[in-house]
Amino acid sequence: MIEEIKKRRTFAIISHPDAGKTTLTEKFLLYGGAINQAGSVKGKATAKHAVSDWMDIEKERGISVTSSVLQFQYGGCCINILDTPGHQDFSEDTYRTLMVADSAVMVIDASKGVEAQTRKLFKVCAMRHIPIFTFINKMDREARDSFDLLDEIEKELGIPTCPVNWPIGSGKRFAGVYDRETKKIDLFEDTMKGTRVGTMKEMALDDPEIGDYVSEEAMDTLQEEIELLDGASAAFDQDEVDAGQLSPVFFGSALMNFGVETFLNHFLAMTTSPLPRMTDQGLIDPMQEKDFSAFVFKIQANMNKAHRDRIAFMRICTGEFEAGMDAWHVQGGKKVRLAQPQQMMASERKMIDKAYGGDIIGIFDPGIFSIGDTLTTSDAKYAYEGIPTFAPEHFARVRQVNTMKRKQFIKGINQIAQEGAIQIFQEFNTGMEEIIVGVVGTLQFDVLQYRLKHEYNVDIILENLPYEYIRWIENAEIDINKIRGTSDMKKIKDLKGRPLLLFINSWSIGMTLDRNEGLELAEFGRS
Ligand code: G4P
Repeated sequence: MIEEIKKRRTFAIISHPDAGKTTLTEKFLLYGGAINQAGSVKGKATAKHAVSDWMDIEKERGISVTSSVLQFQYGGCCINILDTPGHQDFSEDTYRTLMVADSAVMVIDASKGVEAQTRKLFKVCAMRHIPIFTFINKMDREARDSFDLLDEIEKELGIPTCPVNWPIGSGKRFAGVYDRETKKIDLFEDTMKGTRVGTMKEMALDDPEIGDYVSEEAMDTLQEEIELLDGASAAFDQDEVDAGQLSPVFFGSALMNFGVETFLNHFLAMTTSPLPRMTDQGLIDPMQEKDFSAFVFKIQANMNKAHRDRIAFMRICTGEFEAGMDAWHVQGGKKVRLAQPQQMMASERKMIDKAYGGDIIGIFDPGIFSIGDTLTTSDAKYAYEGIPTFAPEHFARVRQVNTMKRKQFIKGINQIAQEGAIQIFQEFNTGMEEIIVGVVGTLQFDVLQYRLKHEYNVDIILENLPYEYIRWIENAEIDINKIRGTSDMKKIKDLKGRPLLLFINSWSIGMTLDRNEGLELAEFGRS
């Protein structure tokens, strides 16, 4: 069992939309033998329809709101890729997915550098101190200067970088990458637009035939850049990589299938098996703990409209899972049967019999699980550390059209909030009358409206509010009524009565902190 767990590599791919996350994932699958031809599983055209047809709204909008997990074997490892929705309208689920990854691969478009969504997702990874690997993609197109790109990553994201390989030109002049460890050049060759696995041609720097592949000018530039790099960039240090304090960087082209195999090989050697996790009884290490344990990080409702059934997705942390086994549901305080276990493949769900620490499974949920819940067969009945609440960036006041339907409205909105798709708040000083909804991506407003109508038969009106920033108040002792804010600040509370502040612009947050000595504001809510 421990051997099985050691083989697991569970990571998320993060990127701004269009940087090449889907293409890179597809190439991984190609190398893993999970698909025979690029485009057959996760080609963009098919991904739009196939990944999930659970919710009609996804079909209507052609967007995948849900994320899936892709599992395949490669190089003696069992790889779980956590696929996060790539659309701009991403949701809190995207953030939560990062809470179950043991490492992350950050895909950056070489012509664009660090973009908004990469920045947000990176922040969550950095908070967890997990190893972060950088793949600078689209080198087959005109790219920005490689040194500038590294500089931007270091300055914008605050993580030192260590290039494992270095590109020779870009766009039409892209000749390949230089491996800094082996001191050899991997030559770029046409892989028919990446539809087949390319044979890698490796050559030493001083190979007399190198001139046939790389121009003299490009070789001179490379020599200069290598010298510069050796002098300027951080040295590779596995401990720093493990602690998320140094990001190994690779260059390549996912589309042309160049540099993907090298990346995969280095990445699997540098990344980590399932890591220990914190519980209320201290760290639980998958290499020591024999009992099964897992925590719920996502709840997908509406799988079958007639039954309003739900699937709870969990990350197995330790031990072995067997279909139909019983486990202790810590938060519910009782034993439950883990029925109908399934794993997600890009386009299909398959039933499974066994799974191990590091794997992600979905379990039938009769409506008893909440995000963050722990399941274990251990007598110690420990609970894994909760999942933080992430800051919504869009807010709206919500009212039901028919005031007679207040009960259904409250029930529906609470249930949807419990699944973690939206967050609900109230005015600070009034009762339950006014409800304010906060979401990470605006698509969730549509999902809310749609689900309330179809599942609870309630029509609602959403009135957008101008706020973009929410802050949790860290000091419990502070008198909320005495907080002196800016004119654009609004005081609200969550369902547990905890006070929060809303702001229209980030500048006001600084002003409010200046005006209230000792006030501590947080971007993540403690669960
Ligand atoms: P995403 O999941 O991060 O959103 O990005 P995705 O892989 O879907 O890629 C976005 C676009 O960038 C796609 O083009 C894809 O073909 C292209 N692309 C990905 N990797 C590379 C690369 O290494 N080099 C080049 N030149 N292009 C790359 P599209 O035209 O939007 O879609 P499609 O019609 O080609 O599928």
